[in-house]
Order: sequence, then C-alpha cells, then structure tokens
Amino acid sequence: MTQGPQLPAPTWFVGCGNMGGSIVEGWRSAGIDLSQAVVIRPSGKTVEGIRTVSSFAEAGAPPKLVVLAFKPQKLDEIAPQLKSWLTSRATIVSILAGVELASLRSRFAGAGAIVRAMPNLPVAIRRGVTALYSEDADDALQRQLGELFAALGFAMWMADEGKFSAVGAVAGAGPAYVARFIAALAKAGEARGLSPEIAATIALETVLGTAWMAATTGETMDAVVKRVASPNGTTEAGLAVLDRALDDLVAVTIEAAARRGAELAEAARLS
Ligand SMILES: NC(=O)c1ccc[n+]([C@@H]2O[C@H](COP(=O)([O-])OP(=O)(O)OC[C@H]3O[C@@H](n4cnc5c(N)ncnc54)[C@H](OP(=O)(O)O)[C@@H]3O)[C@@H](O)[C@H]2O)c1
Repeated sequence: MTQGPQLPAPTWFVGCGNMGGSIVEGWRSAGIDLSQAVVIRPSGKTVEGIRTVSSFAEAGAPPKLVVLAFKPQKLDEIAPQLKSWLTSRATIVSILAGVELASLRSRFAGAGAIVRAMPNLPVAIRRGVTALYSEDADDALQRQLGELFAALGFAMWMADEGKFSAVGAVAGAGPAYVARFIAALAKAGEARGLSPEIAATIALETVLGTAWMAATTGETMDAVVKRVASPNGTTEAGLAVLDRALDDLVAVTIEAAARRGAELAEAARLS
C-alpha cells in the first residue's frame, strides 16, 4: 500500500480562520491524518476534525511543525508567547502575507527550518495554488512539505523571495479578483434583463467552463479567444472595448497589492 503525505506529529496551527481553515479542510479531504494536530486560537472555536484549544499551554507536546495562520499584524503579540514552546526540531510554516523570512527568523531564532507558504483559498477544495520558499529547509523537508501542499492543488518551491511574493500577488489574492470579474459579468447580465439568479449562474458557469476547457485542452488563452470571436462579430466588438483597459487595470491592481505587501514587510522588519 502506498502511503500519502503525513503531517509531522504534533502539528500546531496557530490561528485557523479563513485560510488556516481552508488548509485544514483540504488536508482533511485529502485523507491526511489530523489526529495529532491541534488548532490554537483565542476564541477556541471548533474546527471540524481537529482538536482546538484557546492557549499554547493547553496544546500538549511541543510541535514538530507549526503553521502560522494569523494576521501579519498579530506577529509581535503572538511570537513572544509561541517561541518558548519551540525547539530546534520545530519547523515553522508561515502563511503571513508580506512577512519576510528574515523577519520570521529574528523572532524565532531557536526554531528549526522556517518556510514561507503562500496558498490561496481554493486549497479548501484541493484546487489551490501554493508558493513555497525557504533558505534552510533540507531536501527531505522540501519533499515532505511539497507533497503536503501538492495534496491541496498546485504547489511549487520558488528560487527567491521576490518570485515567491510575485506568486502571492497573483494567486494568493487572485480568487478575490476572479470573484469580482464573475460578479461584474453577472451584473452586466442583470442589466440586460436577466434575473439575479440566472445572471449569477451563467457568469459562474462561463468562467468555470472556460477555465476547465483551457486546463484540459492545454490551449492558450489567445487560442480560446480566437475560437470564440469571429472576425467582425459580436465578441470582437466587445473585445475592442475590453482590451483597451483590462491588462492595465489588472497590472495596477496587482501592483497595489504588491505595494501593500511591501508595507507589511517593512512593518514586520521595523517592529
Ligand atoms: N485569506 C486569504 O485568502 C489568504 C491567502 C494567503 C495568505 N493569507 C494569510 O493568512 C493569514 C490569516 O488570514 P485569514 O484570512 O485566515 O484571517 P482570519 O480569517 O481573520 O483568521 C485569523 C486567525 O488568527 C487567529 N488569531 C487571532 N489572534 C490570535 C492569537 N493571539 N493567537 C492565535 N491565533 C490568533 C484568529 O483566531 P479566532 O478565530 O479565535 O479569533 C483566527 O483564527 C494572514 O496572515 C494572511 O496574510 C490569507
């Protein structure tokens, strides 16, 4: 029998809201054993399928893996409490947007390897994208974490922190931008007289169907466009408007997110 990826035991999730909860959900549905894992969150709010406590003192044996899944702004409140539970055998995986490896190392000097991971929300349904970056994870750890995150969709190790951030800016925040585009398509449908329900359904199914088709055929986006738009037809009339603005709009959108990432990185460096 082949064995799937395993979480080091024990694994601590420090914080488990939207993103931490999505990772747990994805790993649970991938059949990964969570019986030796624990969630630590102040509310103590239960996370399905995993022991949940509200303080480090209740967590039990010191962790082999710690997943940091709280807001970056909480780092200086949580790090001083957490670090006393960490030994050099504890790997840290941080999903904190913008907080650089050096800032994490300065707060967790005595811990083992530190890894940055930037997942996106569809990890919950195992169709996520996760970038990984570390300067001290050895081959075995890289393989183990690579397999754990590959169980949640597409995962890749990045060669430098700049490229890691670039993946975060596009894919980490991406589901929000795609959701806005779907909503905009639906609004346009409503403006043409469709009911909100029908407009929402066809907008969602159009994006889903297009992405699925391209993923399964492997064709480029230009090829998809060519197959939809006949010369001088209706789609081409629409594209003549869309193409004037879309690339620039997406570029400045991603740039604004990257700028905010740089601010968060700077704040974590200074404090
Ligand atoms: N959302 C995304 O799509 C996304 C994508 C990539 C990366 N991220 C990163 O993921 C992290 C979490 O974001 P999120 O959207 O999941 O936020 P969230 O839903 O607000 O969750 C934050 C979690 O932090 C916990 N927390 C707050 N104070 C704590 C403390 N003192 N000790 C331990 N846990 C504490 C909260 O616990 P309670 O619930 O008990 O209050 C909650 O579980 C952020 O660093 C963000 O940059 C998010």
